[in-house]
Amino acid sequence: MRGVRHLLLTVPSFLASFQRSSALMTSASNSITLNDGRKHPLVGYGTYKVGFVPASASSAVSSSAAGDAAKAPEVTAAECVEMALDVGYRFLDCAEFYGNEAEVGKAIAKSGVPRDELFLASKCWTTTIHKGPEAVQAQLEKTLKDLGVDYIDLYCIHWPVPGKHVAAYQQLEKAQAAGLVRSLGVSNYAVEDLEELMESASVVPAINQIEINPFLHRSETIAFCESKGVKLQSYRSLRDGKAFNEPTVVAVAAKHGRTAAQVLGRWCVQHGYIYIPKSVKRERMEENMRVFDFELDADDMAKLDALTTPEALDNFVALYKKCVVRDTPDAGRTELVRTKLTVD
Ligand SMILES: NC(=O)c1ccc[n+]([C@@H]2O[C@H](COP(=O)([O-])OP(=O)(O)OC[C@H]3O[C@@H](n4cnc5c(N)ncnc54)[C@H](OP(=O)(O)O)[C@@H]3O)[C@@H](O)[C@H]2O)c1
Repeated sequence: MRGVRHLLLTVPSFLASFQRSSALMTSASNSITLNDGRKHPLVGYGTYKVGFVPASASSAVSSSAAGDAAKAPEVTAAECVEMALDVGYRFLDCAEFYGNEAEVGKAIAKSGVPRDELFLASKCWTTTIHKGPEAVQAQLEKTLKDLGVDYIDLYCIHWPVPGKHVAAYQQLEKAQAAGLVRSLGVSNYAVEDLEELMESASVVPAINQIEINPFLHRSETIAFCESKGVKLQSYRSLRDGKAFNEPTVVAVAAKHGRTAAQVLGRWCVQHGYIYIPKSVKRERMEENMRVFDFELDADDMAKLDALTTPEALDNFVALYKKCVVRDTPDAGRTELVRTKLTVD
């Protein structure tokens, strides 16, 4: 009798753990092909504000969010990334600006995950782009050293710094030819920035990493990128954790018996956008990854697609104008920032 009870108790927990690990395996093995022929995982782990909050970040967010951010580093970045790798994430989205690449490197070394199973991405910050190509090369080499690797899978220009970003990207083309970088990318590029870049660049970027979620779904920009073979990485896919109570998201989540975070993640990957949720909590890392074992129907997708408001687009423009010169000696010089900008 005792044996039967034991079986009854252990079979469901075995099944739950099997379902959990197969869902995670599915998500880890889902990938897309970039315009340079390389594979890129559809889900990754975002490392911004993981274990460290950059000084200028708290002034770039609302005071309540800044308060949250100040509380965030209770766990070190190395501990968080170790957890993320253990949970099954294999793509790590890093950046010079995040100030934690050496910690990420420690976690990679400790994890024992073979280098060829990882997809590592990083970006150089505005200050470095502003200084010029030599600084970009030096920063790339520092990132490689901090991460403990001899090449990076993807390296991006973080913001299209006016008058500077094209030369920075051309330096990355040289680094790619030298074998330090596999794929080249950009981040926060508007249609006009990509057009300017492609007039001089010889390598079409494989990636444009921009904010994409149902509350900021810039369809014209996305269509332009897709028409040029530039894949979209979606950042702030969870709207920085601030939209989980939005009624449409809540209703779709209830309909599918999923969490709001999983609905936002599923919306993202179902559109074909690369998804890089950030969390410092293990259970959320697991929850966020589980987006390949259910599907949203056309009605759900249409309702979520319709959540972008004119106000959200205005906020995007204000942020773009501030951030393309943020932290550089040109900060605040609005005359340098382009006026013609595809907003949607
Ligand atoms: N290129 C760029 O300019 C740029 C800009 C921003 C971000 N990014 C990249 O994109 C990544 C993701 O964006 P993000 O970090 O800004 O925001 P996000 O992933 O949209 O949201 C992160 C926030 O949501 C919370 N959260 C995560 N999962 C949750 C869940 N299941 N339930 C409840 N709350 C949850 C997190 O809190 P806890 O950590 O406490 O769980 C955190 O406060 C970044 O880490 C970075 O790699 C790039």
